[in-house]
Amino acid sequence: MTQPTRSNPSRGGFHRRDFLRGSGAAAAATALATGQGLAADETGAAVVGPGMSKITLNVNGADHAVLVEPRMTLLEVLRYQLNLTGAKPISGDGTSGGSTVFVAGKPVSASTTLALTCVGKPIQTVESLGGAKLDPVPAAFVHNDGMQCGFCTPGFVMAVRAFLNKHPQATEDEIRAGLNGNICRCGTYANVIMAAIEVVKGGARG
Ligand code: FES
Repeated sequence: MTQPTRSNPSRGGFHRRDFLRGSGAAAAATALATGQGLAADETGAAVVGPGMSKITLNVNGADHAVLVEPRMTLLEVLRYQLNLTGAKPISGDGTSGGSTVFVAGKPVSASTTLALTCVGKPIQTVESLGGAKLDPVPAAFVHNDGMQCGFCTPGFVMAVRAFLNKHPQATEDEIRAGLNGNICRCGTYANVIMAAIEVVKGGARG
């Protein structure tokens, strides 16, 4: 029986590059092909990787040209290329919520989102909630002592912001349920809930 070989992948072989072409990178390729000037294969389909691709990401309202490999996560690009270190690498698999950012207005785990899939979608990080016009959510965290070491705090701030954007009149029970995707090793849950309740009640202006 003929064994699968590198030159004969159709006989059960499964190459990482094929996977990238067929999964997350396929969506990225579609977005990229619209204007990023990528190479095309013999069928005319856009090819992403395996080397670096130059893409543009819109982060906090500004366009940034970055060089990424297909495997690179949004978190890696934000932290190590754009120096936006608010989103944190905690669990690495999204279970902690520490890398929560918004992509196209929806909260996502930046540690499990490929940067290539974010082309053409506005990205918002926790840094956008700070500055001179402090968002009520981080202001409420300050008023309510919603952090200890603070490592989980950016993810919690984004999770609270996302939840209250959708449920501005949420009850305490709803807030507790809505934030159950974020973990705080220091155990500041009670104060985080108090901060969210303060925002619902219209307090904590920056
Ligand atoms: S404040 Fe330390 S992990 Fe949450």
